[in-house]
Amino acid sequence: MRRPIEIAPSILPADFARLGQECTDLENAGVDRIHWDVMDGVFVPNITMGPDIVKSLRSHLTIPFEAHLMVVNADEFAPLFVEAGCSTVMVHAEACTHLHRSLNNIRNLGARAGVVLNPHTPACTIANVLEQTDHILIMTVNPGFGGQTYIRLLDKISETKAMVDAGSYEIDIEVDGGINADNIGECAAAGANVFVSGSALFRYDDRAAGVSELRACAEAARS
Ligand code: DX5
Ligand code: ZN
Repeated sequence: MRRPIEIAPSILPADFARLGQECTDLENAGVDRIHWDVMDGVFVPNITMGPDIVKSLRSHLTIPFEAHLMVVNADEFAPLFVEAGCSTVMVHAEACTHLHRSLNNIRNLGARAGVVLNPHTPACTIANVLEQTDHILIMTVNPGFGGQTYIRLLDKISETKAMVDAGSYEIDIEVDGGINADNIGECAAAGANVFVSGSALFRYDDRAAGVSELRACAEAARS
């Protein structure tokens, strides 16, 4: 079954002095979920937010939260972000010694289990955990910062989609990093259905128009 197109803004470009208003504006602009980029300064050379910040926003919005954990201790922090109100928690395959167990643990907590692949990590890495996976995040930048240049990985997206379809799995395929109106279509055509956009979306003065344009570009590429 074709998965719906979803726009998931990264919260990194937001004005953190007005984080609540920024999130509310995004929800009012029609985004489908909020993408929380969690960084520990070890897995990636940057530090962002913890579960308490995510939790403080939860009751102010109705749309789902997803946590992208760029942390070395993924198993330790995943439960904290489920508790903070994230309905999808994504761990990096590169950070999990026992990825099969990590994904099962997230599911056992009642959240959707997501696995993230850095640009260098092949799609076949997750071939044996698709049964335990609800969400696949394919990085189109090297993680750690917003505003980076998009890395074209269309074959990897297509290969991932083919694996998911071959097993008839109901799994979202998301791309993350440098996504904008110029490249979202090729990613959608290759098989992605969820799109993280940070700097590109925040560049629109009219955020609702930006969400609409990104969604239209993705939809057009799939028709
Ligand atoms: C990078 C993050 C991405 C990034 C997206 O480590 O995972 O979510 O912030 O921001 P843009 O769209 O600006 O690349
Ligand atoms: Zn991210």
